[in-house]
Amino acid sequence: MKMICHCLDVTEEEIIAAVKKGSATLEQVQEATSAGTVCGGCVGEIERIIKNHSGTK
Ligand code: FES
Repeated sequence: MKMICHCLDVTEEEIIAAVKKGSATLEQVQEATSAGTVCGGCVGEIERIIKNHSGTK
């Protein structure tokens, strides 16, 4: 289990789950998990996860 957002304790698994449920953009993942909404330092990691786990890319 990999912690992605240290501000809000959001794991990679939680972000992947949000992407699989249909969050396709950074903004939608932020709405679904709150990850990336405090310091912004994890935003690049979140975008990488979205790329790797969204259906089309
Ligand atoms: S580490 Fe995610 S908002 Fe700070």
